[in-house]
Amino acid sequence: MDNIREIRDGKLFFDGCDTVELARKYGTPLYVMSYSEIEKRLSELKRDFTDKYKGARVAYASKAFCTVGMYEILKRAGVCIDVVSGGELYAAEKAGFPAERVEFNGNNKLPSEVDQAVRYGVGRIIVDGLQELPIIVEACKKYNKKMNIMVRITPGVAASTHDYIVTGKKDSKFGIPLDEDVFLPIIKEIIDSEWLDLYGLHMHIGSQLFENDAFLEALDVLMDWAGRIKTEYGAEIKEVNFGGGFGVKYTNEERKPYSFFLDPMMKRLEERSNEIGIDMPAPVIEPGRSVVAEAGMTLYTIGQIKDIKGIRKYVSVDGGMGDNIRVALYQAEYDGVIANRAGETADETVTVCGKYCESGDILLKDFKVPSSVSMGDILATYSTGAYGYSMASNYNNNPVPGVVLVRDGKSDWMVKPQTYEQIVQNNVIPDIL
Ligand code: LLP
Repeated sequence: MDNIREIRDGKLFFDGCDTVELARKYGTPLYVMSYSEIEKRLSELKRDFTDKYKGARVAYASKAFCTVGMYEILKRAGVCIDVVSGGELYAAEKAGFPAERVEFNGNNKLPSEVDQAVRYGVGRIIVDGLQELPIIVEACKKYNKKMNIMVRITPGVAASTHDYIVTGKKDSKFGIPLDEDVFLPIIKEIIDSEWLDLYGLHMHIGSQLFENDAFLEALDVLMDWAGRIKTEYGAEIKEVNFGGGFGVKYTNEERKPYSFFLDPMMKRLEERSNEIGIDMPAPVIEPGRSVVAEAGMTLYTIGQIKDIKGIRKYVSVDGGMGDNIRVALYQAEYDGVIANRAGETADETVTVCGKYCESGDILLKDFKVPSSVSMGDILATYSTGAYGYSMASNYNNNPVPGVVLVRDGKSDWMVKPQTYEQIVQNNVIPDIL
């Protein structure tokens, strides 16, 4: 166990805070985020990437965990952000996030979102399809601004991860397929436009990756096309965005340092730039999960316990698929502990389920707990900082839990829990009834 998570006096502590005390003070279910862990990952990125390679930038993928307070942390750390919706951009605006450090991604950006991004003056728009260009140009004219354009390619490589989070293979809703008659006209239109500056190429091959071959293969494809752009139009790309996808530890995974992925990528980028005869483009990455996953845990209170003789013991908690859909959606596996019995031997196997009306509402399968586990105990699930809060729902009209930030023994709200009133506040009884 690392020092962000530790057992003291039989209780689980997270970033210096007693989690049982947090559950009592703030209520459950509760997302808890460790500032020290986020800071650690951001400094690894600085050491292994932005300080190491000229012009390198990190654009944190907001979709992993997006709150105004998170943007405040990133703003102070000097990193950039990637947003994929008007809503994420709105939160960034609320945090006063510097516009030039925002990159706007997405496979179907709405005209209203493009308008918002151009008005705010984002640093990059990552184009994902042909029909996007006139929408961007229209907004550029309206605000009299020229936009830096990255073009997202679909490199046609299959990364080994869960099918739902593979994005780089050719049959994908993301990116522009690399067929000459599709890709080159888009590039030409950008080069020819007085409103658009062809800045570079972007790729993202998948998420929760532990191997490097698919990254390198995709980079090769990307650089082949950078060469093609040079020979066809004499244009040189100034930036390459490698995307995100760096894997994290949920249960038994072995987390790899950023340098494991990035050093070989940078070597290849340099070799291929020389070969094509262009100045080496500035590298950008978009890590999401690897910055926040292990910085998060979720606290629940245990309720009903059902021992189905000879079959299974169900231990239910006061949250579930509404605050963590990843188990039902991707068969994701988590680890955790009974926070107030962390010193006891965990020798009984149970299934932890949520309170939602769905048989698939399971959080932990075959999870070991002390046999003394009982109603009122506090369960902590680990590594829930990415795609937990950000994918939360109001299923069964359960409120989205709040998020507390912990740091060296101190704690405070980052997001307050939703209330019942907030869930129904936009409900109206139609006049036509
Ligand atoms: N850049 C782009 C263009 C992306 O589509 C994504 C993730 C990222 C960066 C960040 O990837 P990361 O470093 O977080 O792996 N909800 C799923 C993950 C979906 C990822 C979608 N795109 C999950 O919970 O596993």
